[in-house]
Amino acid sequence: MLDGKKTLFSGMQATGNLTLGNYLGALKNWVTISDEYNCFYSVVDMHSITVRQDPATLRKRARTLLTLYIAAGLDPKRNCIYYQSHVSAHAELAWILNCFTYMGELNRMTQFKDKAAKHADNINAGLFTYPVLMAADILLYQADVVPVGIDQMQHLEITRDIAQRFNSVYGEVFTVPEVYLGKVGAKIMSLQDPSKKMSKSDENPNGSIYLMDDKDTIMRKCKRAVTDSEGVIRYSDEQPGLKNLIDIYRACTGKTADEVVREFDGRGYGDFKAAVGEAVAAILVPLQEEQARLAADKAYLDGIIRENAERAGYYANKTLRKVQKKIGFPERVRKA
Ligand code: TYM
Repeated sequence: MLDGKKTLFSGMQATGNLTLGNYLGALKNWVTISDEYNCFYSVVDMHSITVRQDPATLRKRARTLLTLYIAAGLDPKRNCIYYQSHVSAHAELAWILNCFTYMGELNRMTQFKDKAAKHADNINAGLFTYPVLMAADILLYQADVVPVGIDQMQHLEITRDIAQRFNSVYGEVFTVPEVYLGKVGAKIMSLQDPSKKMSKSDENPNGSIYLMDDKDTIMRKCKRAVTDSEGVIRYSDEQPGLKNLIDIYRACTGKTADEVVREFDGRGYGDFKAAVGEAVAAILVPLQEEQARLAADKAYLDGIIRENAERAGYYANKTLRKVQKKIGFPERVRKA
């Protein structure tokens, strides 16, 4: 508890082109619930290097992402928005937690299996211990709640297991976090293959709407989205492509599935897809404009980056010192 409020932590990787899935599954919810919590939102650049990155591109993407958090509506005076790599306590706690995590647990992580298959030439130890760094991110801030999309649930479960294991040895050191899933949009699927999640690493760019896509591209991708031959607008698992589009439309407009079905009763898929495109563009185009406006103000952003790194560092180091003491590392000796 900080100032009578519970604590929230979440983060996003500055890798690849962010998709509408990242926005609807995570960022949008962050904005909705941020007033209720003390929030830490990290650009998790240390996670990004589990896959090879071009340095200049990584730096640029990290800054764009940090700016997007603010552009989406997170006030950086009230929410701690910072780069993970600016707070070295993340790496230090991750090392400690590595010693409280079992190989067998990490072997079961589906994201590791997927990424290892995709990057068979670079199955590095960081890719394997990635969930431990994620646990360190969350536990450093004693987060009560972690808003993520469904694909991160398994990582949240291992975080809880690690926290409970540590607490069972050393007492109540860590808050055991709860996951927060949005009501709609927790798993946005590919527009080209509704059995796969929309992903920034998808080889087919038509499967994903990127946050930086212009309106024409958004409209075109929605128009080309895979549906079915039924021709009737219903919200059903038997029509997964259509269901995904309805979910996107719901998440963008706040309407219920019933309202959407009624709105498009008797109308064709073409009309509906155009409406989905319009609804997505109505969110993304202003977001892009605000991002560009903020990005131009270098001094403002640099100030935010400096202040928030200090703020995050303060809380992170508080937990880290406590952990170091518990496990028996020698106390620091202060100057007399
Ligand atoms: P990342 O960067 O892959 O994704 C960021 C957030 O977007 C959500 N998301 C989706 N939601 C709905 N539908 C989709 N198609 C979709 N694709 C992505 C993700 O669930 C996530 O919430 N390991 C994390 C980053 C991370 C983290 C953390 C998150 C590192 N440390 C601590 C929370 C707490 C990741 O790679 O997310």
